[in-house]
Amino acid sequence: MSAKLRVAVLFSGRGSNLRALCEDAAKPGRPYEIIAAITNRPGAAGIRIANDFGVPVHVIDHTGFDSREAFDAALDETLEACRADLAAFAGFMRILTPGFVTAWAGRLVNIHPSLLPRFKGLKPQQQALDAGVSVSGCTVHFVTPGVDEGPIIDRAEVPVMPGDTAETLSARILEAEHALYPRALTRIAEGAVRFSP
Ligand code: GRF
Repeated sequence: MSAKLRVAVLFSGRGSNLRALCEDAAKPGRPYEIIAAITNRPGAAGIRIANDFGVPVHVIDHTGFDSREAFDAALDETLEACRADLAAFAGFMRILTPGFVTAWAGRLVNIHPSLLPRFKGLKPQQQALDAGVSVSGCTVHFVTPGVDEGPIIDRAEVPVMPGDTAETLSARILEAEHALYPRALTRIAEGAVRFSP
């Protein structure tokens, strides 16, 4: 069997997508492995999840850097040091410099809780409710310098129910994210999708 795709998961908080990816990668025969969990927040709850799965954790506290460029240089060094093929953003609350994004083009992916290209940016679930749509969902896409704008890899739809709040809709979308992200990484690992700008 050929080598598995080496995936580093980048997160800032809860880490439920990190968990879903670790769980999937641990199944026999999966074409990718989680080789690192990288966070910019020393107190992120997801650190415990990575520990539970025996995934090495790297904390790069953004508050200790003078500039975005300096933070991104540290991130680049960490990804290189752990020989990551792909960085998967999972609730990673940093906007990266165009220099970093260009250097890693085609090797950065993100999950966003809306059906892109609709509802980019912050609070997409509330945006969906405000727009009155009956279907929303989640998207995995390649990262480009524009926020939530890169080429779409895969999406999953979720119904918006009468009486939904941002919380109830977010929970329904999150469940779909946990199935979508492993599926999207599998497609990348198998060479079915690629982005080479
Ligand atoms: C998810 O909804 C993801 O789509 C968004 O941030 C949230 C992260 O949740 N980018 P978790 O930390 O993976 O639980």
